[in-house]
Amino acid sequence: MTAQLAPTETEAAPFATKLLIGNRWVSSESGESFATVNPTTGEEICQVAAADASDVENAVQAAREAFEHGLWRKMHASERGQLLYRLADHIEKNADALARLESLDNGKPVSVAKRVDVAKAVACYRYFAGWADKVQGKTIPIDGDFFCYTRHEPIGVVGQIIPWNYPMLMQAWKLAPALATGNTVVMKPAEQTPLSALRIGELIVEAGFPEGVVNLLPGFGPTAGAAIARHMDVDKVAFTGSTEVGRFILEAAAKSNLKRVTLELGGKSPNIIFHDTDLDEAVEGAHLGIFSNQGQICCAGSRVFVEENIYDQFVEKSVARARKRVVGDPFDLKTEQGPQVDQAQFDKVMGYIESGQSEGATLACGGKRVGDRGYFIAPTVFADVRDDMKIAREEIFGPVMSVIPFKNLEEVITRANRTIYGLAAGVWTRDIKKAHAIANGIRAGTVWVNCYNILDTRAPFGGFKQSGSGRELGEYGLQEYSEVKTVIIRL
Ligand code: NAI
Ligand code: MG
Repeated sequence: MTAQLAPTETEAAPFATKLLIGNRWVSSESGESFATVNPTTGEEICQVAAADASDVENAVQAAREAFEHGLWRKMHASERGQLLYRLADHIEKNADALARLESLDNGKPVSVAKRVDVAKAVACYRYFAGWADKVQGKTIPIDGDFFCYTRHEPIGVVGQIIPWNYPMLMQAWKLAPALATGNTVVMKPAEQTPLSALRIGELIVEAGFPEGVVNLLPGFGPTAGAAIARHMDVDKVAFTGSTEVGRFILEAAAKSNLKRVTLELGGKSPNIIFHDTDLDEAVEGAHLGIFSNQGQICCAGSRVFVEENIYDQFVEKSVARARKRVVGDPFDLKTEQGPQVDQAQFDKVMGYIESGQSEGATLACGGKRVGDRGYFIAPTVFADVRDDMKIAREEIFGPVMSVIPFKNLEEVITRANRTIYGLAAGVWTRDIKKAHAIANGIRAGTVWVNCYNILDTRAPFGGFKQSGSGRELGEYGLQEYSEVKTVIIRL
């Protein structure tokens, strides 16, 4: 471990491990708690209070009270912005400690946690802080002697359920636009990684957000998560996670109060490499496109389509690069890849690796566990992958690259689109016509040309098809957090 970024003793036993309801840290009503585990060792870090339905009830009441009667509703929009700026400053001041905490709980390399997770969370809060006093309606020239205008009002109490792959950043993507537009929030962090969300909760209180505006409920999906999704007094749910649970959230909304739902779900994104590209750049781009964050990225370029005439060369170079990838202790600054987040994800990924082999793909490298403790998996490359294999159809969410040959442009567009998902895509070419044909032809929420995984708080992100509905980030993301009210006045 490098001294500078290793967790200190107090961080290894963090303080904020309870539920945050109405700006107070409370135990769960049931008294239950659960272990959050360090994926590097498989050992428990600490116990965290486990919310269930009765705690959700208390948190929704606190959020409702804050929305209807609290200071929050009367606060100037610019003051909401100031609070968000202050939160961003607090996070920035605590950047090293937060990066260490994220790395401890999730397993991602601490250097990445600092450069990506913390830095992008800060940028996200600042971006939406700037929007707080710029959310404005229109005046509309309707027929007759009337004055017609629109107001963009907060939706109300928003439930937010987030995953474990980017705990702090997913919290920012959800909280920042909800708060900028004046909603109040009941959020459930993922049970695998509750710690950074709770530490940010402390900073939210410190920054001066009024009580009940942000409520945090660590706990499990089928209990706390489901109670949020079906609650009659939650006006919207924003969810990021599996397509399976996304379906369940929609169903719960339909069966309860028809709350608004935005979903950011799974993917099986194509990354398309033409022969006319700079091959070394494309190899590196495809490598980072799938292996970043231990492969645990919803928009990971998991289907790498490579033009026939460079296929063998591409596989050879990709294997060489994958073999060089540094896997190990997340607190070592040289580490590129840490462990998968937990035993369940480790088992799931290993299962896909087995299935790739049994369905006849060529295991070109990796495919094995690394070390004898924790959840480390060697960067894995499969060649000779066919479209109908499970590893080419289902989301693996791990460090497994499938390299698939193609012949021409029309064919690759058709094959790339043959998936239930539509989150993202990449294309590598020097030919501007091919780049545009892919950008227009692929049915996905984001297309990257000669780059991959470029996400920015100003640009919308979200899915076509079963990758979700609605957009996060940017002005489009902001719109998902307000209701439009039409006011008509007779003159
Ligand atoms: P998941 O969808 O079960 O978990 C995501 C969040 O939903 C967590 O906070 C969880 O507690 C909550 N949740 C689970 N069941 C719920 C329910 N019935 N009602 C309300 N909330 C519920 O995902 P999981 O099991 O952690 O991972 C399974 C697979 O999902 C992964 O292997 C990956 O393929 C995909 N996934 C995709 C993510 C993305 O960024 N789009 C993030 C995490 C997982
Ligand atoms: Mg953990």
